[in-house]
Amino acid sequence: MRKYIVAGNWKMNNTYDEGIKLCQAIIEKGPELEGNHKCIIAAPYIHLSSLSSLMDGTGYQVAAQNCHEEEKGAYTGEISASMLDSIGVEYVILGHSERREYQGENDAMLLKKVKQVLGNGMLPIFCFGEQLAEREAGSHFELVKSQIEGVLFQLSSVEMEQVILAYEPVWAIGTGKTASSAEAEEMHAYVRALLLEKFGTEIANNSTILYGGSCKPSNADELFACENVDGGLIGGASLKSDDFIALITALQNAKS
Ligand code: PGA
Repeated sequence: MRKYIVAGNWKMNNTYDEGIKLCQAIIEKGPELEGNHKCIIAAPYIHLSSLSSLMDGTGYQVAAQNCHEEEKGAYTGEISASMLDSIGVEYVILGHSERREYQGENDAMLLKKVKQVLGNGMLPIFCFGEQLAEREAGSHFELVKSQIEGVLFQLSSVEMEQVILAYEPVWAIGTGKTASSAEAEEMHAYVRALLLEKFGTEIANNSTILYGGSCKPSNADELFACENVDGGLIGGASLKSDDFIALITALQNAKS
């Protein structure tokens, strides 16, 4: 069954205490999650163990924002997938545009990371999306297709059915400029058609495709109403408990 997800991506924000307070506020005031609705918080590594304990039994779940592509070894400063699994992390964001840009993450690395995450019993949230220049040049479908082919099309069906997808047009991230619901729906439908062609009906229908990029309470209703938008990956608006809770509620209303 397709899952509907609001995932917060705190990025490099919140000291330890700030993160704990924010998480407490969300689970205390946030709605109960019913059926196939999920809420995930992707926090910096320092918060993950405590957040996993705080969220235990609440239905809310914790994600990391990255992991290393190798199993273990001499990689000073890195964190492996098995380490994340050992503290109760359930999801890992991979391929966020900020990591593609600043850390040079490419398809080959991302494929290894996806395999590490799946191999350790966690679920990847795989991000992709075009830059402004690509949209303006009309090559955004081609670009997204190549990002998906380069990583997800290398997976088996058993692996692919566990992947959560997140379309994040780079020009909309942190800019206040959201894709219109028509633009989001058009790309999400395109991605689902790619999945249909490669993996068949069941995987295409059951895959969760999130939208990310300046998603906030004021535009969430319209975005979440789209047939192929199954929730959001939320940056800025995940840092305020009221806004984040409003987004969880908006998704519940849109997909009840
Ligand atoms: P934003 O970030 O909501 O602040 O645009 C989204 C993301 O980068 O995941």
